[in-house]
Amino acid sequence: MEKTEKQKSSVRQRANEIKEYRCKNLIAVIEEPRDIKNIGTIIRNVNALGVEKAYIVDPRKALPDDWQEMREKKSLSKTSVSAIKWSFVKRFDSTEACIEHLERNNFVSIVTSPHIKGRNNVVLDEADYTIYTKLAVWFGNEARGVSDLAVEHSEMCVSIPMFGMIESLNLGTTSGIVLYEVTKQRREYQRKYRWRNNRGLKIDA
Ligand SMILES: C[S@@+](CC[C@H](N)C(=O)[O-])C[C@H]1O[C@@H](n2cnc3c(N)ncnc32)[C@H](O)[C@@H]1O
Repeated sequence: MEKTEKQKSSVRQRANEIKEYRCKNLIAVIEEPRDIKNIGTIIRNVNALGVEKAYIVDPRKALPDDWQEMREKKSLSKTSVSAIKWSFVKRFDSTEACIEHLERNNFVSIVTSPHIKGRNNVVLDEADYTIYTKLAVWFGNEARGVSDLAVEHSEMCVSIPMFGMIESLNLGTTSGIVLYEVTKQRREYQRKYRWRNNRGLKIDA
């Protein structure tokens, strides 16, 4: 159904209001997700929490190459409750291609895992997510988790402590918990300071 002029202007107004709260230079990366519900949930979380973009490593070519085409894909629109219309999503054929793109653009990667994986392992709320101006947060495949290659190229491995009998949290759920903490810290930092360099020299705005 076509939107009325009034509806269009209230959408525009909301888009303007939220602009300054979006976390600049923050990307959520999903590595080889299988379940479309998880993909939709992550895009919804990305949008709701003000993450700038989502990247999806999709070697099976389950998703269209182009964001415009993704926006028209019913399964993504439904599972993300239309967040796909508002949050930019880019797909990659491989983990290598995604890492190459991120590193070429000076992004620092961190991975998430319920296990001790990286050289530097941290508990979610004990780390500082403002030290890198450009940050990519990786979430792994539902069965296998994050790849060794993604871990090798990451600065730290973040985990949410587990107190139950099961090994891990659901992928979509994890993205909400992790991105909440990361965006909370970065929004506060953005409010207080302006970025200076990729090691985050704090200068009053
Ligand atoms: C279902 S889990 C994958 C479990 C897999 N067996 C493994 O070894 O990682 C899917 C993804 O959710 C995230 N995840 C799940 N539980 C987590 C936790 N407790 N801490 C951090 N990330 C978690 C990670 O990104 C993980 O790759």
